[in-house]
Amino acid sequence: MQNKVAILIFTLSFFLNASAVHIKGEFSTNEFFKFLAKFGFQKTDIHYQKETYGYIFGNLTSNQEFKYPVTFAVLDRRHFIHYYKSRLIEDKELACQVMFQNLNSTAYHPKCNVYGQDLFRRIPCAKGELCIDEDTPWNVVKKNQFTYVIQNTGQPRFWYVSMVACYLDEETCSWHHYKGDISNKSLINQEQSIQYDFWLVNGSPNISFYNALSYQFSFDHQSTLEIYLVFWQCYIILLPLQIYAAR
Ligand SMILES: *[C@@H]1O[C@H](CO)[C@@H](O)[C@H](O)[C@H]1NC(C)=O
Ligand SMILES: *[C@@H]1O[C@H](CO)[C@@H](O)[C@H](O)[C@H]1NC(C)=O
Ligand SMILES: *[C@@H]1O[C@H](CO)[C@@H](O)[C@H](O)[C@H]1NC(C)=O
Ligand SMILES: *[C@@H]1O[C@H](CO)[C@@H](O)[C@H](O)[C@H]1NC(C)=O
Repeated sequence: MQNKVAILIFTLSFFLNASAVHIKGEFSTNEFFKFLAKFGFQKTDIHYQKETYGYIFGNLTSNQEFKYPVTFAVLDRRHFIHYYKSRLIEDKELACQVMFQNLNSTAYHPKCNVYGQDLFRRIPCAKGELCIDEDTPWNVVKKNQFTYVIQNTGQPRFWYVSMVACYLDEETCSWHHYKGDISNKSLINQEQSIQYDFWLVNGSPNISFYNALSYQFSFDHQSTLEIYLVFWQCYIILLPLQIYAAR
């Protein structure tokens, strides 16, 4: 029995290490747009909301000073398609306007749209502090700068995470291209970069072991994983019997 438990724990830890969704890297304003992740979040169970919400949490910092903050976006498919297609528009000033034209009435902004959904973070976030868009600090996973809580009523859904060098002008509530550091009087804008480091998980980051199966797995992989584990367990139980029978 002890052996079996040990093997099971070993297997679990193997799976967890192998498939943790941890995204880390650097985004430069010269890239304009960067697609970071697509992740399937499970359906929210209304009786166990905290345990079945999806969470995206981490840090978004820079060593440089940005004149205007650029945008970190977490969008569902419906909102993502138009936004993603429009990134290719040659004139990036226009691209920013088109990408966000359907989103500025959906996404929350403290001044431009107070009734919107929580889709964007203005980045970079100041080192050692929460992102400015985190207005409910107790919702932020400890030792991180931002947290999105993903609620999927009805069905599991894919969410798409990206960064783009566009900013919202808070005076006019219109979107513009951020070309990098323009403080230098020379004509060439200096590229600026942001370091990102974040996790995507199913279920509260607090509830570790019981959710180990679904935690850190995109929903499309969860059922495969569970089937795999069931077979593995059967194998562990049947193997000694077979050895015994063969003697
Ligand atoms: C969306 O953008 C348009 C044009 O940029 C602007 O006129 C409108 O007020 C914006 N809507 C919201 C809700 O911010
Ligand atoms: C993220 O930022 C927090 C402070 O805001 C810091 O304590 C933590 O170590 C940072 N994590 C990483 C991985 O840089
Ligand atoms: C402005 O840019 C030029 C050329 O890239 C560089 O030599 C100079 O040090 C920069 N000045 C400042 C204040 O950053
Ligand atoms: C994690 O647990 C702490 C204390 O137990 C709680 O304050 C915090 O809100 C929880 N965070 C999440 C994301 O559930």
